[in-house]
This record gives sequence, C-alpha cells and structure tokens, in this order.
Amino acid sequence: MAEFAIYPSLKGKTVFVTGGASGIGADILRGFADQGARLGFVDLDATGSASRVAELEEAGSEVAFAQADLRDIAALKAAFASLIKTLGAPYALVNNAARDDRHGWEDVTEEYYDERIATNLRHMFFATQAVAPAMIEAGQGGAIVNMGSNSWWEASGGMPIYTTSKAAVHGMTRSFARDLGPHRIRVNTVVPGWIMTERQKELWVTKEALDRHLARQCLKNPIAPEYVARTVIWLCSKDAAMCTASNFFVDGGSV
Ligand SMILES: NC(=O)c1ccc[n+]([C@@H]2O[C@H](COP(=O)([O-])OP(=O)(O)OC[C@H]3O[C@@H](n4cnc5c(N)ncnc54)[C@H](O)[C@@H]3O)[C@@H](O)[C@H]2O)c1
Repeated sequence: MAEFAIYPSLKGKTVFVTGGASGIGADILRGFADQGARLGFVDLDATGSASRVAELEEAGSEVAFAQADLRDIAALKAAFASLIKTLGAPYALVNNAARDDRHGWEDVTEEYYDERIATNLRHMFFATQAVAPAMIEAGQGGAIVNMGSNSWWEASGGMPIYTTSKAAVHGMTRSFARDLGPHRIRVNTVVPGWIMTERQKELWVTKEALDRHLARQCLKNPIAPEYVARTVIWLCSKDAAMCTASNFFVDGGSV
C-alpha cells in the first residue's frame, strides 16, 4: 500500500459498499480505510462480514455493517436506512456485489432469469435510489461507482444473464449520471477483467485457463483485486471531479 496515493479529499468521508465481505469489495473497504474514510457495507455473508469488521476496526476504522440479501429489495432498503442512521448520508456508494454463476442458455427458466438479474443488476438501481436522496440533501456532491465486467465486451459465453446484466450496468450508470449530475453526484462504471479473487481461484482459475487469458491481456500479469479497488477510490476522490458517465476498464488490456 505504501506505493499507492492518499487522497486528502476522502479523509473523513462516508462510503457505502455492497458485497464488502470478500473479493474486490473487501479490498475496496481496505483501500478506503487507508484513506481515513468512514465505512458502511452490506453483504449477505454474516461470517465473512464479521471478520471484515474485526479487521477494519483493528486497523482503526469506523465501520458499520448491515446484513441483507440484496435480491430482497425490502431488506436492501432497511440495510441502507440503518447505515444512514448510524453513519449519516454517504459521500460515495460503490455498487459492487454480484455473482458470476455459470449457466447454459438452454436451461434458463423465467425464475432463474429473474434471479440472475436480481443478483447482478436490480440492486444497483435500488441502492442508488435508497441513498441518493440523503446525498442530495447533504449537498456535498459525491460519487457512485457501479461495478461492471468486461465479460460481455469480450463476448464471453456460459453466463448470458450475468453478461446481459453487466452490459446494462453501463446504461444505468449513464442515466443516473445525467439525473444526478445537477447535484454534483458523479456516476461511473468500473469494468474489471479477470481478477484473482479467492472465489475465482477456488472455482475457475487453472494454469491453462490463466495462461489462455494472459495471452489475451496486453499486460501479462494476473490482476490483483487491489488494482480494481484503486480505480474505484480514485474515481470517488476529488482528483476525478470532472469524470462522470464513463467506463474505466481494469483488465490489463484484454481483447
Ligand atoms: N473477480 C472477477 O474476475 C470479476 C471480473 C469482472 C467483474 N467482477 C465484478 O466485481 C464485483 C465483485 O466481484 P468479486 O469477484 O469480488 O466477487 P466475490 O464473489 O469474491 O465477492 C462478492 C461479494 O458480494 C456478496 N454478495 C453476493 N451476492 C449478494 C447478495 N445477493 N446480497 C448481498 N451480498 C451479496 C458476497 O457475499 C461477497 O462478499 C462484482 O460486481 C463482479 O461481477 C469481478
């Protein structure tokens, strides 16, 4: 971390993150903790979240956790209401949670289709709807980052509703950027390539698959989650004050 930037504009700012228990979301929380930000996060994983809270508190951060399954919009609304009650209006929201479960297009039922959209897209809309009024009322501007994926851009197969959801994130970002821009709230999409999280390593990373993927990246190193986190953090800082409605790829130049 010593090589990475500290942004004075983020010190003391309140940041909400979805899916902070593990993976990229955990590194986003760690990165904001290093900035001296106040942290709130939502996740369905109670055990992983408890260890994240312990880790962040031990490092001296103020952190609030609200458990919710983001597919349940009533639970989502209650979780964000509780974070706002504890920490006040956020300066930034990072819509990070998702799950890239594989599915064959032939087997998809209407129920599974809806479940995939609920997991990978719908909650980003309702999280934004849940916190934007408080952000507007606070009148300090702010930033929202929606997590995309370069999988649809690369025409990846085997998870068509995940890739459909992630393509739609770009449209949602640009619409909210227009609607929230007058309130100085910026909205951007961060677009990761293949990121070496614990879940990816457990489920999909083999030497052959990684070699094949690195052959397509301009940069030949596996991508650590902290590099996605760094881009999110920069986008929320004042250094990115005139960036909105845009996409920021963190994929090592993958084609
Ligand atoms: N890892 C990659 O290679 C990669 C590539 C492209 C995009 N992304 C995107 O980055 C983001 C983070 O992915 P990750 O790889 O860190 O995933 P991860 O599975 O490692 O972590 C996701 C976190 O979200 C939580 N979560 C999942 N569904 C939830 C729900 N319904 N309600 C509440 N919490 C829920 C999980 O408990 C977990 O803590 C996602 O939007 C993902 O699509 C990841």
